[in-house]
Amino acid sequence: MIKPDAVANGHAGAILDRIIKAGYKVVALKYTKLSAETAGQFYAVHSERPFYNDLVSFMSQGPIYAAILEKDNAIEDFRKFIGATDPAKADAGTIRADFAKSIDANAIHGSDSDENAAIEGNFFFSNFERF
Ligand code: GTP
Ligand code: MG
Repeated sequence: MIKPDAVANGHAGAILDRIIKAGYKVVALKYTKLSAETAGQFYAVHSERPFYNDLVSFMSQGPIYAAILEKDNAIEDFRKFIGATDPAKADAGTIRADFAKSIDANAIHGSDSDENAAIEGNFFFSNFERF
């Protein structure tokens, strides 16, 4: 996902361009907006964490781009490509170092396992929306 902060700040095009130039194949792409309810479902794994309510309200504050990306070793490589959760700790040249403002407004989401990538892809896309 390209998160609401990056969309609102006009960075979505630049981020998508970097993703494609880095060799990720875009299998599916959608401009949409999460409600508090659907953002809560998406991040249900964090429901016991102290930052959960802030995360849900942040992620439902404006539109996002959701995508399914494909590449060899995609999960690990994409986590490196986007940088640390806290942009202050993200390596230079990563998406979060260049476009994120804070640990909440951190520009982009990446799946953390093949299993979660499949669940998250199914959350946003039907089989008729993947090419
Ligand atoms: P995502 O790609 O969005 O899943 O981020 P991540 O995998 O780098 O981090 P994680 O899944 O652990 O947390 C999900 C989101 O919750 C993060 O992107 C942050 O916006 C937020 N978050 C995580 N840890 C903290 C924290 O300690 N404090 C606050 N305020 N927010 C946090
Ligand atoms: Mg995560």
